[in-house]
Amino acid sequence: MITGFHHVSVPARNLGESVSFYTSILGFDAVERPDHLPSNGVWLEGHGFQLHLIEDPSYHGVGLGNTLLPDKRHFAVSVPNAILFRTYLAEHGVPLSDLMPLSNGAQQFFFADPAGTPIEVNDIKKENLPATTYASHPLSASEFSPAEQDAVYRAIFERRDVRENYLPDPIPEKLLARLLVSAHHAPSVGFMQPWDFILIEDIDTRRAVKEIFLKANANAAGRYSGEQAERYRSLKLESILETPLNICVTCDRARGGENVVGRDTIRDTDLYSVAMAVQNLWLAARSEGVGVCWVSVFEPNELKNLLELPGQVIPVAYLCLGFVRNFPTEPDLQAKKWRKRLSLRELIHHNKWSSQGADLRLYQEIDKLF
Ligand SMILES: Cc1cc2nc3c(=O)[nH]c(=O)nc-3n(C[C@H](O)[C@H](O)[C@H](O)COP(=O)(O)O)c2cc1C
Repeated sequence: MITGFHHVSVPARNLGESVSFYTSILGFDAVERPDHLPSNGVWLEGHGFQLHLIEDPSYHGVGLGNTLLPDKRHFAVSVPNAILFRTYLAEHGVPLSDLMPLSNGAQQFFFADPAGTPIEVNDIKKENLPATTYASHPLSASEFSPAEQDAVYRAIFERRDVRENYLPDPIPEKLLARLLVSAHHAPSVGFMQPWDFILIEDIDTRRAVKEIFLKANANAAGRYSGEQAERYRSLKLESILETPLNICVTCDRARGGENVVGRDTIRDTDLYSVAMAVQNLWLAARSEGVGVCWVSVFEPNELKNLLELPGQVIPVAYLCLGFVRNFPTEPDLQAKKWRKRLSLRELIHHNKWSSQGADLRLYQEIDKLF
C-alpha cells in the first residue's frame, strides 16, 4: 500500500540554472539522497515534498500562455495568496500565464521553471486543497484545513506569559465562558477533572493576594545574591491589580474517590491534569486577544487560607487575565536575559537516555521551525 508522496522528477536543461531557481526563488533546499541510483541529478526538498532534478540538455519544455491547459505535464503547488505570489515571480522575471479565476473564486496560474516545465499555482485560501504547510498523513483523520492547522500552531507559538500593557476593560461573560469551557475540556487522569475555578474580581481580595505575593517575592529575592538579586528584583512576576480578573485554578485531590484510574501509581497526575486545564485556557485566551500571567510566587497555605479552600483542595495556578495592547514576541524572562529557550535538539533522546544526536533529518526539520 502506498504510504506517502515520495518525489517528482523534473528535467533540467542546465542543472546549475535550475538548482539556483528552485533554491533561491522557490525556497527549496538541496538534500543528500545517498540511497538513490547514480544519475546526473540533484535532490531538492521543500514545502513538504522532494524534487529530483535530472540534467537533460536536449529537453525543451512547453511554452507558456494563457492557453496552457492543466492536462499538459506539470506539477502543482499551493500558496496562501496566488496574486501576491504571482507578483513575486514576476519581479524575478519568471515566465507566467495569465491569472485564471476558477468558478469557486480561487485563483490559479502557471509559471515555468528554467527548463520550461510548467508549475500550477493554486490559491489555498479559497480552494480547499490538501494541507501543505503542516501536511498530515493522507489517510489520517485530520479534518483541519491548512488555515485551521496554522491557527492551532499560531496559538501555541504566540502564547505568552503577559506581565504588562493590560487594558482595564472587563472580559465579557461570553468570552469568559469560552475560556472556562476550553479549560474544562482538558485531559485528566481517570477523567477525574480535579479542577475548580475561583473567579476573583473583588479588589480587596486581590489586594490581599498581592500582599501575599510581595512577602513571598521578597523571600525569593533573598535566595539570590549580589547582581543576581538585583536582577531578580527588577523582574515583573505578576499582574494581580492591573488585570480586571484573576482566576485561581485549584486541584481537589480527593475528587473521584480513593481509586482513580491511572493515578494509583503516580499520585501527582491530578496536579498534572490541572496544569493541562490551565494550558487549554491559556491557548484559548491567546486566540481571543486575552493576556494571561501565571503567578506562583506565593506561600500556598496563605493563598489557600485567604481563598478559604477546603482541606483537600490546593491552589495550583493563580492567573491574572485581561485584554492586552500587545503580546510580547518572546518570553519576558528571555527578553530580560534571565534565561534562554534551550536547544530542542539537545533534549531529544533515542530509545535510552544515553543516545542523543542520532537523527539528523529530524534535527534539520526542527531547526527550520525553532
Ligand atoms: C507552573 C508555572 C508557574 C509560573 N509562575 C510564574 C510567576 O510566578 N510569575 C510570572 O510572571 N510568570 C510565571 N510563569 C510564567 C513563566 O515565567 C513563563 O511561562 C516562561 O518564562 C516562558 O514564557 P512564555 O510563557 O511567555 O512563553 C509560570 C509558568 C508556569 C508554567
